[in-house]
Amino acid sequence: MLQVLTEYEKAHLFERQPIPDAYLRLSDEEMDARIAAARRALARRLVILGHHYQRDEVIKFADYTGDSFKLSRQAASRSDADYIVFCGVHFMAESADILSGPHQQVLLPDLAAGCSMADMADPDDLEICWRELEQMGVGSVVPVTYINSAAAIKAFCGERGGVVCTSSNAAATLRWAFARGERILFLPDQHLGRNTAHKLGIPLDQMVVWDPSEIGGGLSADDLRSARMILWKGHCSVHTRFTIAQIEALRRRHPGIRIIVHPECTLDVVQAADDCGSTEYIIKTIEQSPAGSVWGVGTEIHLVNRLAKTVAPERTVFSLDQFGCLCSTMFRISPNHLVWSLENLLEDRVTNRIAVPEPQKQWARLALDRMLSIQ
Ligand code: 13P
Ligand code: SF4
Repeated sequence: MLQVLTEYEKAHLFERQPIPDAYLRLSDEEMDARIAAARRALARRLVILGHHYQRDEVIKFADYTGDSFKLSRQAASRSDADYIVFCGVHFMAESADILSGPHQQVLLPDLAAGCSMADMADPDDLEICWRELEQMGVGSVVPVTYINSAAAIKAFCGERGGVVCTSSNAAATLRWAFARGERILFLPDQHLGRNTAHKLGIPLDQMVVWDPSEIGGGLSADDLRSARMILWKGHCSVHTRFTIAQIEALRRRHPGIRIIVHPECTLDVVQAADDCGSTEYIIKTIEQSPAGSVWGVGTEIHLVNRLAKTVAPERTVFSLDQFGCLCSTMFRISPNHLVWSLENLLEDRVTNRIAVPEPQKQWARLALDRMLSIQ
């Protein structure tokens, strides 16, 4: 069968250690039993981190679950573990490697688990952008990158007085950056950047979109000099599928329903919703809502389905998109890959290790440490 590879997959094709066929033929029961046995044997030497978008059959084995911010904190706090197995996507495992100690090794069970949004910010394009901004006389720029970006992008920000943010601390991070410069170059998610700046009261006419495929981002020097937010032209293909029409349809069908969405959705969707926040925020808000509440949720379908099950029967949860929005790269981490990774660790073999090289690591760490210190 002909397979179309993403840019991320092409870049990692030769590093990726493929799972042996025998692991693809295991029954669910056998996988569960073998994962549980390996975890018991590895005990405190192992920590498994699981992002909320992971499948149920994977996330049930996570020692810690969370959004990107919470998982970064966990990665930095479990210095007693030799191995950190990250059930999430590549940029998350890179952040864990950057924040963990030199004696620890981080594994991504399937190296093909990238993030299509992170791929939209290429480090060479960022260098070009920075140079062109300088040439156009656009100064006092603080680079801020969403954690959904490659380590090289984080390093670029760290080296130039910038910072990393997540969906749960974006507003505080933008305030931090505006205290240090007149304008922000925000990448790679234009929607998180726009939604957050809008919430802070920055008018839309002071935001421009930098298209890395165009000379000068496709913008004039005047546009750039009057902008406070320069938004990189990137997006999440899962969250940009949610629409106002879906919200209106749910409101018609379920009067009184509350709508909550992730800030990677477009501004019109965020404005039409009742609430907006990170995956962790979405979970807490729904879990703490009064019995009888009905929710429409705009985020990845594995999280929405799990929430619907765990809060029922007191609360009812629907996806905004009736066909569900799947993050196909998060889905790459299967229980088969998890059992294979763990059984290799039992033999001290590390498969699909994520190791960010120096000096990139040191600069990316600076940007992540700045993020963790912002309240
Ligand atoms: P959270 O940090 O809110 O979990 O979001 C991560 C992500 O990739 C959302 O698409
Ligand atoms: Fe990336 Fe979107 Fe998947 Fe999040 S949901 S990991 S931003 S592709």
